[in-house]
Amino acid sequence: MENNSLISITDFSTDEILRVLEIAADFEKKPEPHLLDGKVVSTLFFEPSTRTRLSFESAVNRMGGRVIGFSDPNISSVSKGETLKDTIRIVSNYCDLIVMRHPLEGSSRYASEVATVPVVNAGDGAHQHPTQTLLDMYSIKKTQGRLDNINIFMVGDLKYGRTVHSLVQAMAPFNPVFHFVSHQKLRMPNEYKQYLDSKGVKYYEHEQFADLIPEADVIYMTRVQKERFTDQVEYEKTKDFYVLKNSMLANAKPSMKILHPLPRINEISQDVDSNPHAYYFEQAMNGVYARQAVISYVLGLKK
Ligand code: CP
Repeated sequence: MENNSLISITDFSTDEILRVLEIAADFEKKPEPHLLDGKVVSTLFFEPSTRTRLSFESAVNRMGGRVIGFSDPNISSVSKGETLKDTIRIVSNYCDLIVMRHPLEGSSRYASEVATVPVVNAGDGAHQHPTQTLLDMYSIKKTQGRLDNINIFMVGDLKYGRTVHSLVQAMAPFNPVFHFVSHQKLRMPNEYKQYLDSKGVKYYEHEQFADLIPEADVIYMTRVQKERFTDQVEYEKTKDFYVLKNSMLANAKPSMKILHPLPRINEISQDVDSNPHAYYFEQAMNGVYARQAVISYVLGLKK
């Protein structure tokens, strides 16, 4: 991790990822309400968010820190034409850490190059969402008892889904088998498949997966992201291509868990919510522990 920023999940070594997951488990067992006394964290959200922003802010508050920032760039001087560079330089003076979400891929890396404090990427376009990955891995370890040898089905928008991009890279050292289930227009980008090839990781691509559910340890559902499409006709064609229903889960392994970074639109039927395989609401709660761990780690308060 250079510059103490976390922009791509590959900024953390595998040992660092495992350490952050241990720290998250410590926070779940034992809150540290004064760890961030005197510290200020800025949350700069140039794109909408519920879970990421609020779980970061909850994490800071639970550790005794203060939060400043915005959830709508239209109420900042960005709306007057101020550049990202100037915004980040100025905000660096007001805080100890910047958490930023932005629609442009590469914007968080750029911010980390001009900031004088660490930057944590809370999602940059269709590129990466590393703290989501840490909470996803935390959820996998907690529910499966391990990270090694997991059979993971990733379903939905694998083209634009930044959460799946980060997750395949982070899980690669743990001998997973990936099943990429998508409409042909929303396939996992070659860049990530080439990454897996270079690491010798097995993956398969499918258009249908109902018959394969008994093989899954984890089904990672994703939303088709309307906001990433330039052609809304393409969105309409693909948005309801996969809907996971209770009736499809009858032969799943007892330990299989359904994850979803959320928000969910139609891709998981509401009747699945009370199924013991559903884990997405608990997964979102794990985001607080994972983000407490990331904040304390990048600030050097936990090693
Ligand atoms: N998972 C996730 O990034 O959710 P939000 O868009 O609500 O932050």
